[in-house]
Amino acid sequence: MNTENQKKIAAEKATESVQSGMVVGLGTGSTVYYALLKLGAMVRAGLDIVGVPTSAGTEKIATAQQIPLVTLATHPSIDLTIDGADEVDAHLNLIKGGGAALVREKIIANASEKILIVVDESKISRVLGTTFPLPVEIVQFGWEATQTEVNRICGKSTLRVASTQDGRQNPLITDNGNYILDCHLDGIPAPQEIELQLNNIPGVVENGIFVNRADKIIIGTPSGIRYME
Ligand code: A5P
Repeated sequence: MNTENQKKIAAEKATESVQSGMVVGLGTGSTVYYALLKLGAMVRAGLDIVGVPTSAGTEKIATAQQIPLVTLATHPSIDLTIDGADEVDAHLNLIKGGGAALVREKIIANASEKILIVVDESKISRVLGTTFPLPVEIVQFGWEATQTEVNRICGKSTLRVASTQDGRQNPLITDNGNYILDCHLDGIPAPQEIELQLNNIPGVVENGIFVNRADKIIIGTPSGIRYME
């Protein structure tokens, strides 16, 4: 089974936990995309849920799928969130933010009763921070000074860029109007400490370390689904 199919079976498996009456957190990324398609089909067949999207991109896809959307203002408590991850360790710690949605994803994770993470097998890692750079969202003002402080903890980081239609490279701007630094680490043996240290730097909005958040990892593998919980 190729990677795309691994993503699809993991995401579709997660939708089996969604029941009518639920407030569902809708994650971001190419794996969750398959869950959005499936949930859309379930809604059109009568499933009665409301969704809280973690990004403008997810909001657009969910709207096209006719999934009714609400906000945390009216629905501050989420029953179940389905989200992806960029890296997962054996303790269910995660790196997220490859899709630049980490701030909203962490706010929604924090409001969620239960979190299912859907990934393909390539996301599983022995030590967090060895296979994927750690995203840190920072405000634009004084970003170079913030980067210097981030580098004291992470060693080396790069400002994430996005290509314009005419091929120029500009800093990527998140849904919240901020920049992202990608930190190149040789591993994060104490994720919770690094999460707190980074968030203590003035100018840092949030970072992509998620500790003690996931209830279950649903992994699509070449031979089918396996779980970590
Ligand atoms: C979005 O910011 C991320 O946290 C995604 O959930 C993560 O990057 C997984 O995306 P893919 O499923 O596209 O790999």
